[in-house]
Amino acid sequence: MKEKVQAYIKEIDGFIATTPEDLDEFRIKFLSKKGLIPALFAEMRNVAPENRKEFGAILNNLKNRAQQKINDLKETLESSKDSRKDDVDLSLPANFMEPGSRHPLSVVRNEIIDIFSRIGFSVSEGPEIEDDWHNFSALNFPEEHPARDMQDTFFIEKNPDIALRTHTSSVQVRVMEKEQPPIRSIFPGRVFRNEAISARAHCIFHQVEGLYIDENVSFADLKQTLYYFATELFGKGTKTRFRPSYFPFTEPSAEMDISCFICGGKGCKICKYTGWVEILGCGMVDPNVLENNNIDSNKYTGFAFGMGIERITMLKYQINDIRLFFENDLRFLKQFESAV
Ligand code: PHE
Repeated sequence: MKEKVQAYIKEIDGFIATTPEDLDEFRIKFLSKKGLIPALFAEMRNVAPENRKEFGAILNNLKNRAQQKINDLKETLESSKDSRKDDVDLSLPANFMEPGSRHPLSVVRNEIIDIFSRIGFSVSEGPEIEDDWHNFSALNFPEEHPARDMQDTFFIEKNPDIALRTHTSSVQVRVMEKEQPPIRSIFPGRVFRNEAISARAHCIFHQVEGLYIDENVSFADLKQTLYYFATELFGKGTKTRFRPSYFPFTEPSAEMDISCFICGGKGCKICKYTGWVEILGCGMVDPNVLENNNIDSNKYTGFAFGMGIERITMLKYQINDIRLFFENDLRFLKQFESAV
């Protein structure tokens, strides 16, 4: 009988249940009325009276041991059932949320807006789909004038009057027809030109336009404003130069260059080996443009400028291919200011 008890203890301790059915089978085998342990209690009759006390204790221990085992396994089964139900493992590391980053063109656009707003310029926007008047005629481009070919235009639905704006100068017209001077605003936006795509040119790009109209605005104001801008954006040592140029809507007109940041003026692919990079066109608003927009050109004068954000961003971050801005390669985009 002692051997039987030893064998049962061994079996009870080593028992593992993976399902509630296993556990029930185990209970029936050892503890049910016809089970092995009640059968041992029944054998007590055959035990000598002086040994019964000792034996009773051994059997009670055995019974408790089996019962304890059942309780433990029940708990284990239930808790594993619970965790399967919720499918939550609190010990797992949390999912990593990738913080985005701002597009380099947005970073630079925001910086340009910031620089001009510090000297009192407000921000306006106009439509990307324009008519001939706002993109050309009101800006003093005569019809059939070769100056219209300076900017290869995308026309819409074969209607020569509707086009994708080729420059943000169209917003000058939109602002002048609504507001009387003093006007002191910049207009950031996307522009479109039917150009072959290369490392230096794209058919979609971004400009920031500026317009300042008031009494007694002079070319000196224009130069000083743009010099302030260039040194704020590129640092105090930045050199600027103005070259005479031509735009139908400004007279006189100029282009402003800054010393090339990529090669430091020695000459490289981006500056076409000149050491200088053109960053904007500018000039005094042509009186015809003021008159086209019902602003008295005897009373008011003004200056305007327009710059390409891509070109400026390429200089600032030493990027040598404009196409990178439009490819959305995360390895490129991640290198710029984080959005958070
Ligand atoms: N609109 C001109 C361009 O796209 C730039 C410019 C703007 C020039 C304002 C003079 C004044 O090239």
